[in-house]
Amino acid sequence: MTTILVTGAAGFIGSNFVRLLVKRKEPVRLVAFDKLTYAGNLANISDLLGDQVIFVKGDICDTDKVVRTVRDYHVSQIVHFAAESHVDRSILGSGPFVQTNVVGTQVLLDIAKSERIEKFLYVSTDEVYGTLPEDRPDIKFTEETPLQPNSPYSASKAAGDCLVRAYFHTFGLPVLTTRCSNNYGPYHFPEKLIPLFVTNLMENKQVPLYGDGKNIRDWLYVEDHCDAVYTVLQKGRFGEVYNVGGNNEMTNRQITEIILREMNKPWDKFVRYVQDRPGHDRRYAIDASKIKRELGWEPKHRFEQAIKTTIQWYRDNEKWWRDIKSGDYLKYYETQYAHR
Ligand SMILES: NC(=O)c1ccc[n+]([C@@H]2O[C@H](COP(=O)([O-])OP(=O)(O)OC[C@H]3O[C@@H](n4cnc5c(N)ncnc54)[C@H](O)[C@@H]3O)[C@@H](O)[C@H]2O)c1
Repeated sequence: MTTILVTGAAGFIGSNFVRLLVKRKEPVRLVAFDKLTYAGNLANISDLLGDQVIFVKGDICDTDKVVRTVRDYHVSQIVHFAAESHVDRSILGSGPFVQTNVVGTQVLLDIAKSERIEKFLYVSTDEVYGTLPEDRPDIKFTEETPLQPNSPYSASKAAGDCLVRAYFHTFGLPVLTTRCSNNYGPYHFPEKLIPLFVTNLMENKQVPLYGDGKNIRDWLYVEDHCDAVYTVLQKGRFGEVYNVGGNNEMTNRQITEIILREMNKPWDKFVRYVQDRPGHDRRYAIDASKIKRELGWEPKHRFEQAIKTTIQWYRDNEKWWRDIKSGDYLKYYETQYAHR
């Protein structure tokens, strides 16, 4: 059976990826490798652990630990989600972003090379392309768009992206890259816009809206992204980049309006405008025609329904996000899994 090392598997998208493969009964063993930074939460996957899903706590920058894990579990494929992922934090300090997103990716690539890994998939982001004009809806990011990252986060992801490309061209490493737009769904850390707004409103607190609220993002349900990643892993051509998007552009203001409406909260009382993020990209839009044409992937979820499912998930899993907001989740590993 194929064994896949999933880095960052205790985070938002990584945990949804593991969950999707288990749900679909895919014939793979998954080694969930995660440092459990503030963004990693073992509670995201603890119900899945067993013969098919194994958890290893480790840092992707730790060569010995990764090599040992690859050898111990006979890993043949790597899906690399692990990253420092929050733009605002990268503005406060870019050191951890360069360390994990650049150095960590280089460490994994070297190990993939020395351990003769059969497939290495790098989960990148549309943010590596920079920003688009808001008055030109005809222009979208294609895989050929030059990389012009504008935040320390996206710069570090772009550096990882370039290293992946270089290992393909220099060493013939069997790499694949996906560049996806903004995700939403269950297990999303409540510092990001949608889970922050939903959980704040559940606590009857205001939601902070950046600048004029007119920044445009493309939004994709996380399960669709995970499905795309697995599709590329199975059918993608080595050395290729695949854009992944929801064809669902919305301003932050529109997202806020939808969430407020779903949660029966009035705009005037619950929205607080805050000073814009420095260097805030104005618009991201993804042309995902290549992955549809070549691999037959397209999103299955529509925003109108999936946002309702998402809000309901936060209603049903109040303890999950309350533990994060209170910091209690940080003790989870120690109390539940110290013996592992
Ligand atoms: N969230 C999005 O909308 C989005 C969109 C496109 C691409 N991406 C990319 O997808 C990936 C996952 O994003 P996410 O939103 O799930 O992030 P996240 O912050 O929720 O999860 C990141 C995970 O990586 C782990 N991690 C961090 N540093 C590590 C290290 N040095 N060693 C091992 N594990 C480490 C964390 O503990 C955490 O579990 C990232 O590479 C991100 O750039 C995210």
